[in-house]
Amino acid sequence: MAASARNVAACVRPLLLRAAARGYRATQAVRHGDDHGDRESAADVPFTIVDRAGKAHAVTAKAGDNLMYFAHKLQAENPAIVIEGACEASLACSTCHVILSSQHFDVLDEPSEQEDDMLDMAPCLSATSRLSCQIVLKPELAGMTVSLPKFTRNFYVDGHVPEPH
Ligand code: FES
Repeated sequence: MAASARNVAACVRPLLLRAAARGYRATQAVRHGDDHGDRESAADVPFTIVDRAGKAHAVTAKAGDNLMYFAHKLQAENPAIVIEGACEASLACSTCHVILSSQHFDVLDEPSEQEDDMLDMAPCLSATSRLSCQIVLKPELAGMTVSLPKFTRNFYVDGHVPEPH
């Protein structure tokens, strides 16, 4: 086991023991994010992601997938699809900013006040901007276009390329 993995394990173990003592349940780290359950039977949601260079990529997600975490999985095979997500969907950044096709933007529920506040700080803001970490895909979003803004305000140092989750 690498030193950093040992450090993480050493930090997490007491927390898990304390949680168990209180009767809390913890999920395995691999189950965090959008992978809560089997989605094989969920409806397909085909749509297009336009990368920062303007190239369109046809993709198909499942209903119930979180848009940002779905994009993170795609990034492993297609490095042009980069949505950072610096705060891990906790509404404390705008690095997961995307721009939706207008007819599909209206399908979504209104953004929360917290999401609106974060969007106000997003560069390249448009009338159909949303934070991708707050979007759960549904069949009505089939055919939408998700455009990545030319840049985001990045918490990392320039040149950092985030690892997919
Ligand atoms: S990842 Fe930070 S708000 Fe979406």
